[in-house]
Amino acid sequence: MEKKITVLRGDGIGPEIVEQAIVALDKISSKYGHTFKYTEVDMGGCSIDKFGVPITDDGLEKCKASDSVLLGAVGGPKWDNVDPLIRPEKALLKVRSELGLFANLRPTKLFSQLADSSPLKQSIVGNGIDLMIVRELTGGIYFGKRRTDTVNGEKTATDEMTYSEHEIERIGRVAFESAMKRNKRLASVDKANVLDSSRLWRATMHRLSAEYPEVEFSDILVDNTAMQLIKNPCQFDVIVTENMFGDILSDEASMLTGSIGMMPSASLSETTLGMYEPIHGSAPDIAGMDIANPLGTILSAAMMLRYSFDMAKEADDIESAVNKALDDGYRTGDIMQENCKKVGCREMGKIISSYIGR
Ligand code: IPM
Ligand code: MG
Repeated sequence: MEKKITVLRGDGIGPEIVEQAIVALDKISSKYGHTFKYTEVDMGGCSIDKFGVPITDDGLEKCKASDSVLLGAVGGPKWDNVDPLIRPEKALLKVRSELGLFANLRPTKLFSQLADSSPLKQSIVGNGIDLMIVRELTGGIYFGKRRTDTVNGEKTATDEMTYSEHEIERIGRVAFESAMKRNKRLASVDKANVLDSSRLWRATMHRLSAEYPEVEFSDILVDNTAMQLIKNPCQFDVIVTENMFGDILSDEASMLTGSIGMMPSASLSETTLGMYEPIHGSAPDIAGMDIANPLGTILSAAMMLRYSFDMAKEADDIESAVNKALDDGYRTGDIMQENCKKVGCREMGKIISSYIGR
């Protein structure tokens, strides 16, 4: 098969981790006889420096015209004080919304080889944490009306959180379908004791749950969820929630696994076009030092194969290679353990590629 992939390396460690995901993808293409065609587009700080905007219209069109998008990470202190209208994050939100990437899947898995790296006690981690956060990505407070004005002589800022039934229903479906493929448990997270948007969220999810009688469905308030993730993370299978709650809970959940450097994500639309990126940031403090963990990005490439290209076997190959590298004791600095072999970003990429085999 031939697939067009737009590559957004971004800033900081973005270029070097993406490079290793491409090494893995190239190995897959030669093993299975696929052709992956890469188109590079600048996004984030690198684009601000070159073009004065975090992504150009032409770059955006290239993303839309491809079969999927692979992203490293954007941003850094250098661009912290630019006009809010052209901040690197603006580009990310624009791509999400222009490509209709409403469903963000963030699998949170504690690899058994890294169980010691979790900040939680063994008695809580049990046989491993394995949950899937399904975050709504193109609605809510991220995309609501904003304004800063003067009310009664005082500066006042407003950010609106809006959800319509169809937006809730379509993310709900993704979550129920995902639960059906996993352990058939779904927790819908909201703040229905306070927010109208959450009350509509809850009612819509309940209505949908009737269509999925096999899924054990529950709802849970977001503050309680934050607590339960620490107290008993193994109770969760799939969690579905709105944009900002999902942003916060997914960072919390990622820490339970020891390193945010391991966590991939997929942002899916109503077509097969998706965007794939690690959930960590651009880590400018270690950029260019060849010590970043490329596994989150490599696992994101595996999600691309699975979700956008329907290449399940190829995705399994990458995931097995990552498992084997961990089994054999290869670690980047962030996941380093006693008696393991410390490797850099490039070497980890090489190891994964060799384990993918021919
Ligand atoms: C994420 C990030 C983004 C978000 C930022 C960079 C805008 O934190 O992907 O979780 O808040 O969605
Ligand atoms: Mg975030």
